[in-house]
Amino acid sequence: MSGTYTVVRTLGRADAAHDILEELPEWFGIDRFTHEYVEAAARFPNYVAVAAPEAEPAWAASGGPDPARAREVGPGPAHLGADGGAVPTADVLGVLLLDQRYPTSAEVHLLAVRRKHHRSGIGRTLLERVEDDLRAQGVRLLSVKTLGPSASDPGFDQTRAFYAACGFHPVEEFPDLWAGDPCLLMVKAL
Ligand SMILES: CC(C)(COP(=O)(O)OP(=O)(O)OC[C@H]1O[C@@H](n2cnc3c(N)ncnc32)[C@H](O)[C@@H]1OP(=O)(O)O)[C@@H](O)C(=O)NCCC(=O)NCCS
Repeated sequence: MSGTYTVVRTLGRADAAHDILEELPEWFGIDRFTHEYVEAAARFPNYVAVAAPEAEPAWAASGGPDPARAREVGPGPAHLGADGGAVPTADVLGVLLLDQRYPTSAEVHLLAVRRKHHRSGIGRTLLERVEDDLRAQGVRLLSVKTLGPSASDPGFDQTRAFYAACGFHPVEEFPDLWAGDPCLLMVKAL
């Protein structure tokens, strides 16, 4: 556990996505992919884990309660009304971009947590918030594509362990979907 945080659904936090990905070169060290993820922050809903400060910050006080946009799900104090667009970049501890192409399924397009907060429950909490929102819309399946086990990459061994711990099941490894890297499809029934 490394401090308290709140999960906020927002849009367009390319700054935070870029900042966090730069911290994690073992996973996101290829510029063209980082660029694609950062661009995706403008298109997809962004779920961000935000550090909950001791005192009520200006960005939290400015909004007025709007549970559709901001809802406390982490162990920190409530920040109802927090505007995720106004949170300082450094206060965003983790980001999840959600791609929903069909009414009954959705995909985790990007999930990344700042390194010093790994293993603090932030990744799981971001997923839980997304899953709650999707279930409420009648979505039945959540998927993610990640590096497959045949690539022998210790960082992605941990990534797959995380998704497995969060209830995802491996379906198939696609050797040719990504140029040069095996892609593992994992799914979770909601
Ligand atoms: C993968 C990632 C998003 C997980 O987020 P996190 O906040 O560190 O993970 P959590 O603390 O929520 O972990 C939840 C559970 O997943 C499992 N888990 C998480 N990290 C793990 C690791 N390194 N090794 C094994 N299991 C792990 C554990 O069961 C953990 O529960 P526990 O700590 O109570 O045992 C984060 O570590 C990260 O940003 N990694 C680098 C980028 C990445 O891999 N992104 C996904 C690309 S598809």
